[in-house]
Formats: sequence, C-alpha cells, structure tokens
Amino acid sequence: FQPKVLAGRRLLITAGPTFEPIDPVRGITNHSSGKMGFAIARAAAEAGAQVTLVAGPVHLPTPRGVRRIDVMTAQQMFDTVLPQAGQHDVFVATAAVADWRPASLSEHKIKKEGKKQAPTFELTENPDILAAVASLAQPPYCVGFAAESEQLLAHARAKLLRKRIPLIVGNLGPATFGRDDNSLLLVDAHSERPLPADGSQADKLTLARALMTELAQRLAA
Ligand code: C5P
Repeated sequence: FQPKVLAGRRLLITAGPTFEPIDPVRGITNHSSGKMGFAIARAAAEAGAQVTLVAGPVHLPTPRGVRRIDVMTAQQMFDTVLPQAGQHDVFVATAAVADWRPASLSEHKIKKEGKKQAPTFELTENPDILAAVASLAQPPYCVGFAAESEQLLAHARAKLLRKRIPLIVGNLGPATFGRDDNSLLLVDAHSERPLPADGSQADKLTLARALMTELAQRLAA
C-alpha cells in the first residue's frame, strides 16, 4: 500500500535516451533504458499524482494511469516539455538527452559506394531542457539527474548551480544504464544523503517510491 502523498500534484517527467538522426536509417543515441524515469512515473501515479511522461525511444510499457507522449529527438522533447512545464508542480528530468545532434539531416541514406574517404559529420548543440524549464518565470520544482563516472558530489553540486535547480539526484551505482538496481545520492544546496540510507543498492521502483516520499516532504515544506 502506497500512501497518496502526491495527491493533487502534477508531475512532468522525461525518460529514456533521445535519437538524433543522421540519415533515414542511422542516428546518434545512447544506452539509457528509461527504467528509472518509468519507475518514477509509476511511483508518482501510485502516490496520487497526475503524471505526464515524455519518453524517448524505449521498450517499456506505460505505467498505469500515466499520460505518455513519445518523442525521438532532443528538440522534440524540448518542444513537448516547454509549453506544458508551467502547468505542472514538479519537473523530473531523468532523460539522457543527447548533448549534440548532426547539424544537417541527410534526406537519403548516405552510401558507401563511390566514396574515397569516410564521411565526417558536423554536430550542433541541443537545447538544455532542464535549464530552460528551471528558468521559466514560475518554474515547477525541478529535479535533475546526474550520471557521473567520478567525483559525483562535486559534479552534482556544480550542476545544481549551473541549472539553478533545487535538487539533483546522482547515480552512485556503477554503470546504471539498463540495470534494475541503482544507488542514489540526493544533493541539494546544503546537504547530501544516499538513498538507500546505508549506501547499498535497491531496485529502481523502491528508489522511485522513496524519492516520491522525499519530494512530497519538500513540496510541503
Ligand atoms: O548537463 P547534464 O546532461 O550533465 O545534466 C543532466 C540533467 O539535465 C539530467 O536531469 C537531464 O535529464 C537534463 N538534461 C536536459 N536536457 C539536456 C541535457 C540534460 O534536460 N539537453
């Protein structure tokens, strides 16, 4: 039984990778499975929240009671999130958004035949969805995620300041992408604490539920 600690709250969540096309059959993406974001969407709905989940290309079922919008690219995710962010109380950015996309999209498949040299691709920067939502005039409570291979706390706190958000969730676990277990570090401006509290691993749904309890407390404070 989950107490309805988020009853009446509206949560907007991004999840999964983005896919940045190079030509009609190829693109740039990453190994994000979307599992953490989908677990958060499920836990939020269980806790009584109205949940909108904006998902990149993933192979996961939509959690019960969750409104899901599928997108491919970072720009599509941005265009979907920004107009509705202001109507939500909380924005949780779990998506592993591609930092760059090919500067131009080839209309036809790039062929190997007849080319002396391998092609090169120019990249251009994608918009930072979380930073854009956080800088709205009346932003929702913004929660970011940080996947780092070293110096998690320092990087997480730097990210908090750079994006002007109140809470960052760091992944402590090794190579968390695609796994069911994870270990988190909650970082705000003044403090940090591991989840689970003893720094062990827990499955992503258990962590998501604990995170929703934490979120409810912060919204009520
Ligand atoms: O800047 P960095 O990618 O390290 O920050 C990670 C956090 O920012 C995550 O919460 C991620 O979902 C979000 N993000 C975003 N849009 C981007 C890049 C990251 O919303 N273009």
